[in-house]
Amino acid sequence: MSHYPARAVVDLDAIRSNVRALAAHAPTAAVMAVVKADGYGHGLLPTARAAVDGGATWLGAAQADEALALRAGGLGVRVLTWLYSTGVPMESLLTADVDVSVAAPWALDRVAAAARATGRTARVHLKVDTGLGRNGLTPADLPDVLHAALRAQAEGALQVTGVWSHFAFADEPDHPTVHRQAEVFDAAVRLVEGAGATLEVRHLANSAATLTNPSVHHDLVRPGLAVYGLSPVPSLGGPAAYGLTPAMTLESQLATVKTVPAGHGVSYAHAYVTPTETVLGVVPIGYADGVPRHASGSLPDHPGGPVQVGGRRAAVAGRVCMDQFVLDLGPGAADAAGDRVELFGTGAHGGPTAEDWARAAGTISYEIVTRVGARIPREYVGAGAGDPGHGGAVVDADGADGAAGADGEAAPAGSVAGASSSGAEGRRS
Ligand SMILES: Cc1ncc(COP(=O)(O)O)c(C=O)c1O
Repeated sequence: MSHYPARAVVDLDAIRSNVRALAAHAPTAAVMAVVKADGYGHGLLPTARAAVDGGATWLGAAQADEALALRAGGLGVRVLTWLYSTGVPMESLLTADVDVSVAAPWALDRVAAAARATGRTARVHLKVDTGLGRNGLTPADLPDVLHAALRAQAEGALQVTGVWSHFAFADEPDHPTVHRQAEVFDAAVRLVEGAGATLEVRHLANSAATLTNPSVHHDLVRPGLAVYGLSPVPSLGGPAAYGLTPAMTLESQLATVKTVPAGHGVSYAHAYVTPTETVLGVVPIGYADGVPRHASGSLPDHPGGPVQVGGRRAAVAGRVCMDQFVLDLGPGAADAAGDRVELFGTGAHGGPTAEDWARAAGTISYEIVTRVGARIPREYVGAGAGDPGHGGAVVDADGADGAAGADGEAAPAGSVAGASSSGAEGRRS
């Protein structure tokens, strides 16, 4: 059992229900839950299992090691991996029946060689750069790679299973690049099918496009952020507007509470100076735990990241440090060491959200959740949280450590992430 003074409580029911909501938004497509970056910080295997329970028939992992970890963890649905360099363990991927993306001519050669070496038929998704200007074959490179792929297919080394791409402005569904990328994608699909490939899937839509742009759902949608209940289009609506529930609650406790006079400098460089006599509270997690230093607070213009403590909001005062930050709890505050501090969660009862932290730090909610540090224990609630090998400690419905935390030490009151709705908002990765 962990003695760390913080935890990230992950609600597996919320993940299941978010995948069901995404599937309802894309009724003609299958769902690939994107679980890269340790399930966006929520934990790879528990997240993947919950997503599959919720109806995902595919899992997406950027890195080869993540894809192999999914197989080692017993996930049997289709898995696609897409970001690798020349050291990729391609033979292991093919042996593990992982679908692989091909985004460069060398990658096709590498896949074909691994297929010949292992005797496996590789399942290949041709990644086309339709305008993002990132990973993918340019439309100019596509014909040569396609014809090489079809030659390898004829010899039994691989099967061209999918064509796929990724948007630059998915969170602005009417942006001209969205229409343009969709046209380039359609042309690429026509080219591949016209050359004789029988595609199993065409896929283009991330969370934002899944929720806002049915015309690009094709056979498979590829949501990530929305699986975790955060809105990818905060300007258009928060999670509740899309039937989503934020799955992670990040909480800590007050470590020290003390009264200081007006004019007292707080934390490094005294970026915050107390305007009156007030009560300061130290929270024992910092930027090494993923609390963004850019969410430091200074008066009068830059309120720090928000927390909920004692049923009310407080904000980071002064610089976020490596292992701690300070709150100005206000004059006469009665908070005490050990009191629960919620950094973000569902947004219920006026609590702050990951999107609130993103705004305070000038970033996106993707970065807030994926950066929650490895040393913060993940604890799981919801059906399946106690299953063997789910990958983390368990919290029961009363907020006490359950099956995996056998001695049942009481958790701070109200610490369990519920499946309630949120007014939070989320954005583009
Ligand atoms: C290629 C690809 N597809 C899908 C996703 C999921 O995106 P989102 O989290 O915006 O749904 C990502 C994440 O960045 C990605 O890189």
